[in-house]
Amino acid sequence: MDVLREALVMFWLVLVFEFAIEGVRAVDNVALSCPTRQSSVLFGGTSDRANDGNIDGYYSDNSCTFTAALDYPWWAVDLGSERLVRSVIIYNRVDEQPERLRDLRVGMMDTWPTGNNSLLVMDAICATRDGPHPEARLIIPCEKNATGRYLVIQLAAVKVTLTLCEVEVFVQCKYIDVL
Ligand SMILES: *[C@@H]1O[C@H](CO)[C@@H](O)[C@H](O)[C@H]1NC(C)=O
Ligand SMILES: *[C@@H]1O[C@H](CO)[C@@H](O)[C@H](O)[C@H]1NC(C)=O
Repeated sequence: MDVLREALVMFWLVLVFEFAIEGVRAVDNVALSCPTRQSSVLFGGTSDRANDGNIDGYYSDNSCTFTAALDYPWWAVDLGSERLVRSVIIYNRVDEQPERLRDLRVGMMDTWPTGNNSLLVMDAICATRDGPHPEARLIIPCEKNATGRYLVIQLAAVKVTLTLCEVEVFVQCKYIDVL
């Protein structure tokens, strides 16, 4: 009887352990260290700071991006191949002016975005978030079919700075299944 009970406990432990591993795999951030670009750079806030794996929201710690205060600033990451994005998590500045994150347009494009001062035409929409978003951590689930190689975040506002302290991107592994 004890042997049976032990075997049963072992069986459940192995099962739980495997589920835990699957869970970790399922939430891999695919944007980490991928190539990035943004519309402009000020104060050393280069685009790669948004996917350096460091969510630190204090600008002086050199891990947040910074664009000039132009119209419709954007940031983009190359995911390497066409992916179906399920959700995006944005880590905002926490030291000052977190409300600069506003009127977000999150979408997918088939090429790098280019230029300044224009609203980009996305090939697929992930989500829009109007108004100011001063949250330290903004979780954005995507609409269905947010498929593309380049994930783009743009502020649909004029004379604004885009600052991102980290962007995490989560994809559907077998995107073909759900299209
Ligand atoms: C946007 O304008 C800035 C400032 O003139 C310039 O440095 C930058 O290269 C431009 N960005 C793009 C993507 O053309
Ligand atoms: C997603 O894409 C499929 C195939 O192109 C299409 O049939 C479906 O209507 C799309 N769904 C949405 C919500 O856009």
